[in-house]
Amino acid sequence: MYFSPTGTTKKIVDEIGNKIVEIKGIESTITIDFTLPKQRENGQIFKADDLLVIGVPVYAGRVPNILLNYLSTIKGNETVVIPIVLYGNRDYDDALIELNDILSSNGFKVIAAASFIGEHSFSKTLAKDRPDDVDLSIARSFSESVCEKIGGDSFSFVNIKGNRPYRKYYMPKDKDEKSVDIRRISPKTDNNCIDCKLCAKVCPMGSIDYNDVTKMIGICIKCGACIKLCPTQSKYFDDPDYIRHKHELEEQFKKRREPELFV
Ligand SMILES: Cc1cc2nc3c(=O)[nH]c(=O)nc-3n(C[C@H](O)[C@H](O)[C@H](O)COP(=O)(O)O)c2cc1C
Ligand code: SF4
Ligand code: SF4
Repeated sequence: MYFSPTGTTKKIVDEIGNKIVEIKGIESTITIDFTLPKQRENGQIFKADDLLVIGVPVYAGRVPNILLNYLSTIKGNETVVIPIVLYGNRDYDDALIELNDILSSNGFKVIAAASFIGEHSFSKTLAKDRPDDVDLSIARSFSESVCEKIGGDSFSFVNIKGNRPYRKYYMPKDKDEKSVDIRRISPKTDNNCIDCKLCAKVCPMGSIDYNDVTKMIGICIKCGACIKLCPTQSKYFDDPDYIRHKHELEEQFKKRREPELFV
């Protein structure tokens, strides 16, 4: 299962899941993509002998808060789960431990977890093109370790990095060092738009008006899907605080970070 507006979470969850399926010879599998609002209308119930790999991106150092209601409707029955988070090379802060806690309190047994790096939703240069081949190879080795653990006599739980209580949602600062609430910002559309409607179809909040794609009918979570997927690069943010924050991230977090595995 994954929520993945710009596809990096999907890429890693698919790689990990497919490798586990291959090693264990699992015959029956399902993929649940809960990126779009419609896909989050119904919950999911898992059985004791199911195995779930679930991934979300890190937003503000945490599990995206717009997913919290939906995640509470995914129930396990002592089901083995592997939580995964994807972050844009800054940090995953308390997102992985938060996802671990949500799943543990919903009837799942977390036997392994991992953080991976994906191209930042705000940027085309920060962690550009990640996850790359090196990340994918680490994802496959992770699956091998997970399968060894599942094949063992007893499962041990994992110690996942993070703080409890969780740190507050990470907020960017403006030029006067004051916290900026980027929730008020939404994308604009330039004249190159060919009205293909793709942006309206991919928005995980259903917030772009299908009849007039220049109009917003809901909130924007800055997920980057409409910006990165528009075939004519017509969607853009021009808010000075957003642009400043994006440049700051691109400058400050150039050093390549590596996946962290907890098995
Ligand atoms: C609102 C928002 C907040 C984000 N916060 C963080 C963060 O705190 N740390 C970080 O490294 N990346 C952060 N990112 C980047 C995403 O976690 C990262 O690009 C991820 O790979 C996107 O996943 P996707 O391709 O599945 O959409 C943020 C992205 C968005 C949209
Ligand atoms: S994806 Fe781009 S070109 Fe297509 S409707 Fe949206 S803004 Fe216009
Ligand atoms: S409008 Fe906002 S929430 Fe919707 S796809 Fe674009 S960036 Fe994502």
